[in-house]
Amino acid sequence: MNFHESNRQAESNQQPTPFFLYGTAWKEEQTAQLTQRALQAGFRGIDTANQRKHYAEEAVGHALLYAYEHLELSRSDLWLQTKFTHLAGQDHRLPYDPRAPIREQVMSSFESSLAHLHTEVLNAFILHGPSLRHGLADEDWEVWATMEELYMQGKIKAIGVSNVSAAQLQLLLGECKIKPRYVQNRCFASQGWDRDIRQICNHHQIIYQGFSLLTANREVWESAAITQISQHHKCTRAEVVFSFALALNMLPLTGTSNPQHMHNDLRSRADMLSEQELMFIKNIYPQK
Ligand SMILES: NC(=O)c1ccc[n+]([C@@H]2O[C@H](COP(=O)([O-])OP(=O)(O)OC[C@H]3O[C@@H](n4cnc5c(N)ncnc54)[C@H](OP(=O)(O)O)[C@@H]3O)[C@@H](O)[C@H]2O)c1
Repeated sequence: MNFHESNRQAESNQQPTPFFLYGTAWKEEQTAQLTQRALQAGFRGIDTANQRKHYAEEAVGHALLYAYEHLELSRSDLWLQTKFTHLAGQDHRLPYDPRAPIREQVMSSFESSLAHLHTEVLNAFILHGPSLRHGLADEDWEVWATMEELYMQGKIKAIGVSNVSAAQLQLLLGECKIKPRYVQNRCFASQGWDRDIRQICNHHQIIYQGFSLLTANREVWESAAITQISQHHKCTRAEVVFSFALALNMLPLTGTSNPQHMHNDLRSRADMLSEQELMFIKNIYPQK
């Protein structure tokens, strides 16, 4: 199988997780073409959401059809992840009836994701974010219970949650029947690269998916120190940041629109940086 397999915790849920995900947000009419390019470049893990406001999930499906027809890829070569988004995170282009009970909203969103992505099973289904800033609301528990149900029916290989705080994740872990396999969060260097959440993830064998590794940390990846490290390794500054993320056991996301960046990003390696370089980047912000 043509997976970029990670050598990390991924094996325990019996599906190899790609070592890098291509993110499809904010690409609008270029979504299909860029996703196709990413597959051509070698990405095998695709992240999307049934949230038309920021993603064009149907267009991701068009790229998949192209890949099956022209790139000698089959469904089993690919790892597909999408999300359920609460009403508050959507615009008027909804994948469900807003008056329907939450369980039905999740089921409708899930079914239309399957149709958009031309698949019968998802590799991962993610709650895009809790509906409250603090704690978990009844609706969040209902979404989670529905996701658990789909997981137990074998329609989803793994479930996860995004945009969570450490307290929300602990709450979920304390009460859920099926533990999240993935946490997808924006990763700020200024918060020790999301240290608190990553610690919980490591403890519970949850794979931490980091997004905005570049855009949330511009002052870091454009710094003279990172430039120097990249020159030493003859790679781009983005590769330094992504290699650092891999060394920390993260599953990084990139949404680059640039084919050269796609190739560069895929060259990132968990073993590229020395212990000293890793420590330096880890502590680039003094710990509070
Ligand atoms: N769960 C959530 O709420 C959530 C929120 C945000 C994002 N995400 C997911 O994460 C994915 C990635 O989003 P992101 O926030 O990390 O940002 P991104 O969309 O990947 O943006 C990265 C930015 O860095 C630039 N860049 C420059 N050099 C680069 C290089 N070598 N490699 C990669 N990028 C380079 C890119 O420009 P070029 O295009 O010119 O390379 C782009 O402007 C999204 O598509 C989505 O799937 C999820």
